[in-house]
Amino acid sequence: MSARAHRVVVIRGDGIGPELVDSALAVLDAVERHSGGFHLELEFHEGGAAQYQRVGQALTPDSLDACRKADAILKGPVGLPWVQRPDGTEAGLLGGILRNGLDLYANVRPIKLFPGIPAPIKREPGQVDYVIVRENTEGLYLSRGLGVGNDNAVADVMLMTRPGVERIARFAFDLARTRNGAPKDGVRRVTCVDKSNVLRSMAFFRRVYDEVGERYPDVQRDYLYSDACAQALVMEPERFDVLVMENFLGDLLSDLGGGTVGGLGLCPSGNYGDRIAYFEPIHGSAPTLAGKDRASPLSQIGCLAMLLDKVGEAKAARQVETAIWRALESGALKMGADGCPVGGTRAATQAVIEHLG
Ligand code: IPM
Ligand code: MN
Repeated sequence: MSARAHRVVVIRGDGIGPELVDSALAVLDAVERHSGGFHLELEFHEGGAAQYQRVGQALTPDSLDACRKADAILKGPVGLPWVQRPDGTEAGLLGGILRNGLDLYANVRPIKLFPGIPAPIKREPGQVDYVIVRENTEGLYLSRGLGVGNDNAVADVMLMTRPGVERIARFAFDLARTRNGAPKDGVRRVTCVDKSNVLRSMAFFRRVYDEVGERYPDVQRDYLYSDACAQALVMEPERFDVLVMENFLGDLLSDLGGGTVGGLGLCPSGNYGDRIAYFEPIHGSAPTLAGKDRASPLSQIGCLAMLLDKVGEAKAARQVETAIWRALESGALKMGADGCPVGGTRAATQAVIEHLG
C-alpha cells in the first residue's frame, strides 16, 4: 500500500525563519519514519524581505499560485525591519498577500502553558489552554497599504462586514465544539472580545456574534471589553476556552497571551480559509538571533503539528505535540527566561525528536 501523500508549500522566510523551518522539517522526517503511512511532498518557495530585495515582490504570483494549489503551507517568519516601502511600512511581510489573497479569514492562535517553563504567570501546566481566533481579512488591518493621508493627517479605516463577522464567529463556535472547555470549569465557552462600548464597528461585531451564537446553545456566550480582557488574560487565564475578536485586537492580545506562558517562541498559529491554510509562528523573524542557533524552534514545530491536523494526519499531529510536552516535562528540553531554549535551537529540536513515540 502506498503512503498517503499531501502537497505542502514551504516558505523558509527571513532572519531565524530558515533555521526554525529546518527544525520543523527534521521533526517531520522523524515522524514520517516513525509512524509511516503518510508523506508530505514539499515544494520550496522563496518569500519575504530577502525575496523582495531580489525581485521587487515579497512573493511572486507563481509562488502564490503554488500556495493556492497546495494542501497546506508551512511558513517561517518573514520581514526585515529595514526593508521598507517608501511609506515606511515593511515590504517583506506576507500577511496581506496570503491572508487577503487566499481569503484565509481565521487566524487560530493557541496559547498553552507547557511544563517546566519559567513563565511570568504561575499556574500548573494545562491550566492555561485557550485559543484566540483572530479575524484575519478585515477589521483595522484591511487598511494595510490603503491608508489615506498627507503630511498633516493619515487615516486607516476599520471595516466590519456582516459576512466577515458571521464566518469568524461560526468558526469560533465550531472550534469550541471540538475542545474540552475552559480549564477552570470544563465549560465550552466563546468569549467575544471587543470595544463595543466605544466603537460602532465593535458593537456591530458583538451583535453579529450574538446572532451566530444563538445557533450554538451548547456553547456558552461570554463578553469582555478588550482592555478588561488584557487584564483577565494575566489574572484569570483559566476561564478562557475560545476567544474571538477583530484583527488588530487579536494581533495585540495573542502576543500578550504568548508572553504570559513564556514567550512567543512557544506559539504556533494557523491561518484558515474554507480550503487552504498556512501555518507560521506568531513572532517575527528576530534578525538579531539569526544564524546563532539560539531561537526557540517550538513555535515552528507546533506549526507542523497544526499542519498535520489540517491535512488529516491527526495521529502524527498528536505525536508531535506530545513530544514537545514530554521533552519539556522530562527536563531534556529547558527554556530560559529569555524565551530561548537552553543549549540552542538544534539541541532543542533533537530533544523533541527523541521524545516522539
Ligand atoms: C502577526 C504579525 C503580522 C500581523 C505582521 C508581521 C504583519 O504581527 O502575524 O501577528 O500584524 O498580522
Ligand atoms: Mn503580531
